[in-house]
Amino acid sequence: MVKPRMKTTEQTEVSEAQIAVHWKEEAYYQPSEKFKAQANMRDPHVFDRFGLDKFPDCFREYADMLTWFEPYHTVLDTSAAPFWKWFAGGKINASYNCVDRQLATYANKAAFIFVPEPEAERDVVMTYQELYDRVNEVAAMLRDLGLKGGDRVTFHMPMVPQLPITMLACARLGIIHSQVFGGFSGQACGSRIHDSGSRVLVTMDSYWRNGALVDHKANADIAVRAAKELGQDVDQVLVWQRYPGKYSAKTPMVPGRDVFVDDLLKDYQGKKVEPVALPSEAPLFLMYSSGTTGKPKGAQHGIAGYLSYVTATSKWILDIHPEDIYWCMADIGWITGHSYIVYGPLANAATSVLYEGVPTFPDAGRPWRIAERLGVNIFHTAPTAIRMLRKLGPQEPRKYKYHFKSMTTVGEPIEPEAWRWYYDEVGKQEAVITDTWWMTETGGFLGTTVPAIHAMKPGSCGPAAPGIHPVIYDETGAEVPKGSGKAGNMCIRNPWPGIMQTIWGDHDRYVKTYYGKYNKHPRSKDWRDWPFLCGDGAVQAADGYYRILGRIDDVINVAGHRLGTKEIESACLTVPEIAEAAVVPVQDELKGRVPEVYVALKPGVPPSQALIDRVVKANEEVIGKIARPKHVYIVPDMPKTRSGKIMRRVLAAISNRRDVGDVTTLANPDVVEQIRILVQGKEKATTAQEALPEDIAKFGQVE
Ligand code: WTA
Repeated sequence: MVKPRMKTTEQTEVSEAQIAVHWKEEAYYQPSEKFKAQANMRDPHVFDRFGLDKFPDCFREYADMLTWFEPYHTVLDTSAAPFWKWFAGGKINASYNCVDRQLATYANKAAFIFVPEPEAERDVVMTYQELYDRVNEVAAMLRDLGLKGGDRVTFHMPMVPQLPITMLACARLGIIHSQVFGGFSGQACGSRIHDSGSRVLVTMDSYWRNGALVDHKANADIAVRAAKELGQDVDQVLVWQRYPGKYSAKTPMVPGRDVFVDDLLKDYQGKKVEPVALPSEAPLFLMYSSGTTGKPKGAQHGIAGYLSYVTATSKWILDIHPEDIYWCMADIGWITGHSYIVYGPLANAATSVLYEGVPTFPDAGRPWRIAERLGVNIFHTAPTAIRMLRKLGPQEPRKYKYHFKSMTTVGEPIEPEAWRWYYDEVGKQEAVITDTWWMTETGGFLGTTVPAIHAMKPGSCGPAAPGIHPVIYDETGAEVPKGSGKAGNMCIRNPWPGIMQTIWGDHDRYVKTYYGKYNKHPRSKDWRDWPFLCGDGAVQAADGYYRILGRIDDVINVAGHRLGTKEIESACLTVPEIAEAAVVPVQDELKGRVPEVYVALKPGVPPSQALIDRVVKANEEVIGKIARPKHVYIVPDMPKTRSGKIMRRVLAAISNRRDVGDVTTLANPDVVEQIRILVQGKEKATTAQEALPEDIAKFGQVE
């Protein structure tokens, strides 16, 4: 949630200074005629068709891209606003739309090409027919295990084809899947099992990561234990084998609880399960994400709205045609992978590449070798990967003869520098780039260009997808006009089909977090009263393009992954010697932002390297390796206001080597200089003139 600003005038000055420094207008890049000629969406009138005056009926066009078992009667039912019901009255099945309906034309075309991390291991090509067979077998198995529509099943799976197969098998029966990113720790998985009330965990024994075969089953044991401690029993752990028929983990199987999926499936060969005709608004999956509190929230997405939205945006924005070879180098464990590796591409009969491992393994040429070998022509990744590949192998793309027609970036703001390398070197000045801004809660793209219609502008996500009507509000709820150079809170005026339905088990938090700030009539059934607060700061240039400034809540976007500061701080506090912990975001050349941690020790505890190591380890165990702090500083005391609140903003300035500003009103101003010396050394290392990025400047502003 956005917090009210304390001193509005002071803040305005900060953001204007910043804009002057960082917001040089960039030149436009035009899509090529060749791209435009073949694009799925090249009708500039599409924006008239999707104008607010045509809302919500315009979205029939999206629903029409799906195959329905029974037609819907109402495009948008707002009777329980802001719990939107899209395409109410319809009956549909996501698994049918992604798999069965492709068989007539594309049975023998690859649905997935799985590329294992070890380069010597062969690709696995899975046709739509094979996908259909496997999904049916797994669905039959799940049904016989007693699972039924509405049950939740947690997955903790790596990037292997068994993950989408199991997702689609659940979708076939109406079982709600909840995939936890494979890189999250067992404990993090356990808390999500508990929150979703899953009695079944699906995992894999091992997977390849950076040249090592990781024992992943070990995490399942931790997850089940953690869930139990929270009060949720897991009856069954279904373990896929990375190499079927062989167990590749050291951790023993637990008799009566753990079963090898590959063994169970022997009884299901050739079994078929009819896809269940489910109500449009039945939940399809949960995706946990971080927010202001220490408790991750399960974004609940419903079948028809979500699927129609990712199908249409895959077609129009990613420009997927069935004959394309499309590669989204993200993880299915995040929303990007759900929407744009699995559901959207398959609903468009795409061939979607699944890569198991690290982009830079064994070297920074790997992605381009894969692209050349498989003939990938649409490429999708995050700025972090772009920065990393650029740093390690700026000339690598030139060595390979692939040709992309279209490229996407997602997950964080991309600096114009990195954008240009992506365009010039990776895209060889032929490919269009769409910078797609959106989030877990929104199901699919919000801010983007439509690549054959709009020019590209490095560093800006563009205007918005058809039917998305953004508005920037200031703290008072007044609209911030375009071209004003002022930043504000990015909102969407209208609901859209991809929007989440609620936070699993916490309807109040859903209303409060996303609508609490700007809704003035809490009982209103009119969608116009419910602008959606996205959680990012943004500026709109005179040409209508948005530039996203980053999160306005207590979330740090580390390498495109959302981490809650409260989650990190609670992880630190699991070390008993720690009295207080404060985490701040620090600019990082590759990862965008990384967390740095400040801890104060309990009285009488001497500082030591061993304690620092334990704090790092606590973060790895409670959250996962992605939450590893860059530094942990043991400080004599936290800078605090007179009322005892920790001033994270001061710590953020120190970590980012900026001027701390006026600290004389603090309860303990002297400690600030002590901490500064501890972090920066005796010499003043500040570059006071250069303003901080908005998300860091505002970080922990009101404590
Ligand atoms: C950030 C990922 C700038 C933003 C799809 C958002 C971006 C958060 C962009 C959501 C972009 C995502 N430009 N920032 N193109 N895309 N973000 O939920 O801060 O993992 O709020 O969803 O990532 O992260 P999430």
